[in-house]
Amino acid sequence: MFQVNLKQIFNSEKISFDECELEPCKLVEQIPNIDVNYVFELKVLNEVLLYLFHPFKDCLYIAGPSGCGKTTLILQIAARLNWGVEQITLSNKCESLDLIGHTTLKQGQLIYEYGPLTRAMIYGEILILNEIDLMSPGDLAVLNDVLEGKPLTIVANNGEIIKPHPQFRVVATANTKGFGDMTGFYNGARLLNQAFLDRWRFIEMTYPNSRVELMMLKTAFPNLDTEMANKLIRFANELRKVVELGIDNGVRQISAPFSSRTLLKIASLVSVNTEYTVHKIVNMCYALRLPKIEQEYVMRLCNDVFGHEKAVLKKTQKNDLDENVNVESALSEEDDENKSKSDVKPKTQRRSRKTLKEDKKESNEKNDN
Ligand SMILES: Nc1ncnc2c1ncn2[C@@H]1O[C@H](COP(=O)(O)OP(=O)(O)O)[C@@H](O)[C@H]1O
Ligand SMILES: [Mg+2]
Repeated sequence: MFQVNLKQIFNSEKISFDECELEPCKLVEQIPNIDVNYVFELKVLNEVLLYLFHPFKDCLYIAGPSGCGKTTLILQIAARLNWGVEQITLSNKCESLDLIGHTTLKQGQLIYEYGPLTRAMIYGEILILNEIDLMSPGDLAVLNDVLEGKPLTIVANNGEIIKPHPQFRVVATANTKGFGDMTGFYNGARLLNQAFLDRWRFIEMTYPNSRVELMMLKTAFPNLDTEMANKLIRFANELRKVVELGIDNGVRQISAPFSSRTLLKIASLVSVNTEYTVHKIVNMCYALRLPKIEQEYVMRLCNDVFGHEKAVLKKTQKNDLDENVNVESALSEEDDENKSKSDVKPKTQRRSRKTLKEDKKESNEKNDN
């Protein structure tokens, strides 16, 4: 056992507890690599640490939109704690054997190969079950006893009994909370069994706030102009508001969420010196996957935020006079975000959203004719 000083490891006095004990990880190759560009958000960091060090026989279910950073959060926490991780991404084709293990032929001999669940139980690792809501509830039921801290019996390996290591943890990630998909974005999400969900502790994640996303962009792409980084974040937030409004009103306005992954993808291309305008890059990385009307709306929003494509001289390289991250302006955006939805919306958003609605109405009328 060795002592870990969480405040020191995560470089923050605001970690809600400190000084915990951990056993060194036996499978060093299972410890994720540290991403130095990763930016922690305090609230979710504290909630995950609380689970890891005080699980009380619970497991952790992280729900949130695609690409908001659910899996990376766990990997980056584990990387800093030197805690081994077993990961599996589930699907409707996965079965309990994919988690537990199976018999396989190696060098002419039949041997039993443990799956990620069994390895995590033996070696005291964190098992990450990605996209848990895509797997059949019947196959997930194999986890019920194990999730409560009971041993696992492997019938196919002569009834071998695997006792859980005290540092064994289970974290699931999903786009839904197990009630099926309410947004229309996540085809294939299933209704999970409530008896199964009773065994979990929940965290709801959304996209990182503007300040964190700005830091993400600035650390990942030091070349990116600060003004451009701020505009990209404004663009992302305006688009996300429209997506959310559509979900709240039950009328989908934009057919794909705008994830942090997409934001990073766009920023990466904007930060290199090419002939492409930010409009073209947004189109390539996001808008082209949308239906035509929505794509046009996104391109109009691009014009609102970045200036008209034809008038814009692409300015991507870092301005030497502007070294500091413009956190103040990012924070004020964040304050705007926190206003209630009934508050005055930014001019551009009000105008563009109305136009999208009108566009859709027009197109429906055309189709009717
Ligand atoms: N706080 C963050 N700091 C830096 N990069 C992040 C952060 N959150 C998410 N990312 C990046 O966003 C992308 C999507 O994250 P991921 O964990 O795969 O999302 P999810 O599991 O929610 O679908 C990854 O490339 C990840 O590195
Ligand atoms: Mg994931």
